[in-house]
Amino acid sequence: MGNVSVVGLQWGDEGKGKLVDYLAGQFDAVARFNGGSNAGHTVVIGEKKHTFHLVPSGALKGKELLIGAGVALDPIVLREELSLLPDKVKEKLLIDGRCSLVSPFDKELDVVLEQMRGSSPLGTTGRGIGPAYAMRALRLALRASDLLNNPDSGAPSQLYSRLGVDPTRFPAWVNESKRVVLGLVGDVGSRVVDIGQAGGKVLFEASQGTLLDLLHGSYPYVTSSHTVVSYVPAGLGIPSSEAGEPLGVMKCYTTRVGSGPFPTEIMDSTSDNIRSVGNEYGATTGRPRRVGWLDLVALKYAVRINGVKKIAITKLDVLSEVKEFRACVSYRHMGSETGDFQRSLGHLHEVEPVYESPFTMHGAKYDRELPSQAKKLVDYLEAALGVRVSLVSHGEERSRTIEL
Ligand code: IMP
Ligand code: MG
Repeated sequence: MGNVSVVGLQWGDEGKGKLVDYLAGQFDAVARFNGGSNAGHTVVIGEKKHTFHLVPSGALKGKELLIGAGVALDPIVLREELSLLPDKVKEKLLIDGRCSLVSPFDKELDVVLEQMRGSSPLGTTGRGIGPAYAMRALRLALRASDLLNNPDSGAPSQLYSRLGVDPTRFPAWVNESKRVVLGLVGDVGSRVVDIGQAGGKVLFEASQGTLLDLLHGSYPYVTSSHTVVSYVPAGLGIPSSEAGEPLGVMKCYTTRVGSGPFPTEIMDSTSDNIRSVGNEYGATTGRPRRVGWLDLVALKYAVRINGVKKIAITKLDVLSEVKEFRACVSYRHMGSETGDFQRSLGHLHEVEPVYESPFTMHGAKYDRELPSQAKKLVDYLEAALGVRVSLVSHGEERSRTIEL
């Protein structure tokens, strides 16, 4: 096995953080290629819970940690995150100089833009992600490498002022940020290639999920970066041949934080049950996640876009506490049925899910072996999605993982 790219197949929160920590032992480095501190990657070891926002989830395995060019970097959040981790984590960290920075002004703008949307906000994490990537596209962003010189913040400051955000603290923020990244900035793409040439392997860690991808997700209810596997090489600056094998991660039900269409959303008390058993609250914002049944239409789309052949399924233990199991096999819209997510993208708000309930997972108990009910789910998903299930996660603790 060479490099591996871990990507989310739903709306994020599939349990990628746990799997990256679990798999990291077999790799030399873990690299982030997209998103920013909107991510909340949870790793549980024994009784201790760690939430990563910018630091790759391989930190607790002592691996080399790489933050690629595609990441929107908030230096102040990074400083806070590093202060909670052992000093040696910082020694392992390399940040690409091309990372565009997220400033406090981007966060203010995030709030202003949400207010502007009135009664239909996107429900962003408020971490300044949209504005930071917009500044990059406008060619006004400061990048990590700029901090090492004396960046000219004239043009971005002018724009923020015009948009109603006061940028007078800009120079102070630049100085503060410079202290955070000093000694950590380099060329991540080149480092990934060097590791490969020396016979090493890198694990690529996506944040968010395929359905939140800026281009391929449920636009405009998406994040502002690319979450799909084809962005791994672009987000890091490596040849596509180095992106390795994709590993898709999916939860055995669906959740979504923030607004936007969600065809299999559960509107009765079952959603409260799943939310409380599965602790479905945003790791970054603490918001209760919306909960829904498994959506095979959306998953097929995500599998196809990412070219995934191997998947990991997570949170099977949660379904042990739920009487029913449902999987959406097609969408009904204006009298016709379709299994094609793409065809439904324009009217996801209006489609009605068509379910089947081939079995229940209620009462399944997990040990080192997969219980027979879970085997049924594995077979069912392999047949429906045309993939192989290689990992099953049945609890947040690192050890609650079964390799198949
Ligand atoms: P933003 O990325 O903060 O701009 O938020 C845009 C949308 O993506 C909102 O619906 C967020 O709730 C969602 N989102 C962003 N990051 C994550 C994540 O890490 N997990 C789940 N949802 C996310
Ligand atoms: Mg998360």
